[in-house]
Amino acid sequence: MASRVDPSSNDLTVAYRRLSAAYQQTLRYAEDVRRLYQQVQRAIYQSLLGLANALEAKDPYTRGHSERVGAWSRSVAAALGLPPSDVDMIGQAGLLHDIGKIGIPEAVLRKPGELDPDEWAVMRNHPLIGAQIVAPFDFFAAGALMIRHHHERCDGSGYPDGLVGDEIPIGARIITVADVYDALTSNRPYRAALAHATAVGTLTAGAGRIFDEDAVAAFIGLLQSLSTVRHDVGPRPSQHGANGRTPR
Ligand SMILES: [Fe+2]
Repeated sequence: MASRVDPSSNDLTVAYRRLSAAYQQTLRYAEDVRRLYQQVQRAIYQSLLGLANALEAKDPYTRGHSERVGAWSRSVAAALGLPPSDVDMIGQAGLLHDIGKIGIPEAVLRKPGELDPDEWAVMRNHPLIGAQIVAPFDFFAAGALMIRHHHERCDGSGYPDGLVGDEIPIGARIITVADVYDALTSNRPYRAALAHATAVGTLTAGAGRIFDEDAVAAFIGLLQSLSTVRHDVGPRPSQHGANGRTPR
């Protein structure tokens, strides 16, 4: 006996296949959009890096500083077990943390000596300027906060907002530790680079009070694991401050 085809069943099969094909096409479009979005993000980030490089051209004392702080911040974030997306963001914010110095007059930025109170007031704007530079980019909103708060101190003595402890984003607390170590172990116009042990002593003395305790422990562990640590200490120009409380 010949089998009978149910016309309605056939229509359903055709409709299902069309729906499935449309769904697959939508997935491909979504993947294309995701890839394009990532490309746009990368292009924006490359542009920001261009600005950071421009800063290093403007202020030779920061040369190499941004790269070291970015790399160390990323490693510390990973050592603290933060999610990979946070680790990436912290590394990028570390690289760009001083980007606001592009808006600081060279007379202040390159002054070969201590800043007077008025000059300090100008210099203290650089975290705010940096956050404003990256503010238009929604995908970097967390990084903008890290840039804004990279001179905060856990005891509330930092700037620009005097945040205390956990009020400071963890990324900013990590960047601070790397930033201060690099500042201390860099040559400055008015003093030579301090020894690695001296810088570590400063971080240890401030851990839990000025600096995030976990970030300091992870950072010191990182330095100990780096066989190149001795090469990182020595003649290295920087315009950052001489101690944990008042680096520029
Ligand atoms: Fe800074």
